[in-house]
Amino acid sequence: MSAQASTAGQPALTPNALTVLEKRYLKRDTSGKPLETPSDMFRRVAETIAEPDKKFDKKADVKKLADRFYEMIVSFDFLPNSPTLMNAGRELGQLSACFVLPVGDSIEEIFDAVKFTAMIHKSGGGTGFSFSRLRPANDLVKTTTGVSSGPISFMRVFDTATETIKQGGTRRGANMGILRVDHPNIMDFIMCKADQKLFNNFNISVGLTEKFMEAVEQDEEYDLLNPRDKTKMGSLNARKVFQRIVNQAWENGEPGIIFLDRLNRDNPTPHVGEIESTNPCGEQPLLPYESCNLGSINLGRFVSEGAIDWSRLKGVIHDSVHFLDNVIEANKYPLQQIHDMTHSNRKIGLGVMGWADMLILLGVPYNSDEAVKLGKKVMQFINDEGHAASRDLGQKRGSFPNFIGSTFDKKGALPQRNATVTTIAPTGTISMIANASSGVEPLFAISYVKNVMDGTKLVEVNPTFEQLAKERGFYSAELMEKIAEHGTVHDLDEVPADVRRVFVTAHDITPEDHIQMQAAFQYHTDNAVSKTVNFPNTATIEDVENVYMLAYKTGCKGVTIYRDGSRDEQVLSTTKKE
Ligand code: CDP
Repeated sequence: MSAQASTAGQPALTPNALTVLEKRYLKRDTSGKPLETPSDMFRRVAETIAEPDKKFDKKADVKKLADRFYEMIVSFDFLPNSPTLMNAGRELGQLSACFVLPVGDSIEEIFDAVKFTAMIHKSGGGTGFSFSRLRPANDLVKTTTGVSSGPISFMRVFDTATETIKQGGTRRGANMGILRVDHPNIMDFIMCKADQKLFNNFNISVGLTEKFMEAVEQDEEYDLLNPRDKTKMGSLNARKVFQRIVNQAWENGEPGIIFLDRLNRDNPTPHVGEIESTNPCGEQPLLPYESCNLGSINLGRFVSEGAIDWSRLKGVIHDSVHFLDNVIEANKYPLQQIHDMTHSNRKIGLGVMGWADMLILLGVPYNSDEAVKLGKKVMQFINDEGHAASRDLGQKRGSFPNFIGSTFDKKGALPQRNATVTTIAPTGTISMIANASSGVEPLFAISYVKNVMDGTKLVEVNPTFEQLAKERGFYSAELMEKIAEHGTVHDLDEVPADVRRVFVTAHDITPEDHIQMQAAFQYHTDNAVSKTVNFPNTATIEDVENVYMLAYKTGCKGVTIYRDGSRDEQVLSTTKKE
């Protein structure tokens, strides 16, 4: 696992990681043959991202910094998001994973957004949109005296464009579609993915307001508003709408929900604009035309002799913030508007992967109060040190240009280089490269099969478990097969009780445990936390409803659930279902 990664200048790559890098990350010739090794790639990234230091200090020792960045990446202490690994130092040069584009209420604006989406997807970025500004279906169109097709119909255009671009891109384009709960077409939006053939390039979330949530609690009606002029177009019972959302999520995992007022309460630059959408996986709220680059610290690498190595962690946090701030400089943006917005807020998203690995190495079960407390403490440390690093940079390089009038300015804060510093990304691919558990998720299974692009199937066995089984003398090929069948060890007597206690998987823990952990990390995260709450197939609609309410009550910014077996295709699955 991650703790075994080499620190001698060469990456310790699993066969799976090597396959992913060769297929999608390394420079290749026209016949598809790699033109660089993984360490060449990490060197290319480190050198490109160290270079901008010269802009701020002519005497900067860029070579020394590149060596430090290289060491941090090659050892898998830290990895930037995929587009930085793929594109840094190459012609495309687009380094961000997250974008939000505005969709205005005119044909010109809608199709501009479609074009911009295609440009972003081509470069490996993901796009989020709010469709809430679009007039509802059957509303009047003045210029043609016809009627509008409405937001869901226009979403199809984005979906089809994404499907087409996917064929030429390095990774599948992803979209987030958001509609406010007070939009007149909200019921159709909630149902728009009920047919599993539709909108496969979209994650959808309903944008909930505090007013709506209060109406749910009071079992009251709330108003539907025409976005064009805010006139009332009807009203609905809030509880019924909430239940429809929950029913649909139970049925096939979507829509998710996001709490719009919470995103805006934490908007550091309300004087620049209102937040209406997040990136595709929900962890990064952004203003229209903003982009953000993410990076994740691999927590499994920071356990030494059964304890957290706080001082080494602090050093890597500071270097990671420095790295991500430099990414903003080295980045080649697909549009001038995106360049300008990104440079004026300078948002970065430092997060974690390997949280479940860290807990295992510390001997703490994921579903324990101790784990929740520790999660809060670790994230507070990263957030505090991350902000300290951003202040240091602010003193040397100046605050982000929109600082005046920002919430930092209003609090009388010191210079701050970045409007946001922390975000918990899913780390879907980078955790695989680092052989770490993903984001703040529990282990999905002790052994599982992962489907990646092109239908390739990769078998993963948790390496810490394998190592431990060998050391403790309970390893056998038959047992490993049995575990792969089960996807869990909790009911296997062959595995010692203390090992079973710590090796809990996503399905061994309750949905409430998932939410408690999400809330613990959210507490000290500027942006949001990417997290999937897993339910067994037998979960009831009420179970899902309770979790949506719990997410609201515990201060989460949104929630995404998945009930096992509720969709035809699953990205992750245990071997049992193959
Ligand atoms: O691990 P990696 O850096 O590849 O990405 P991630 O942490 O799983 O996802 C971070 C963000 O990248 C997502 O929220 C999306 O904004 C974007 N993304 C995307 O656009 N398309 C994908 N296929 C995967 C991620």
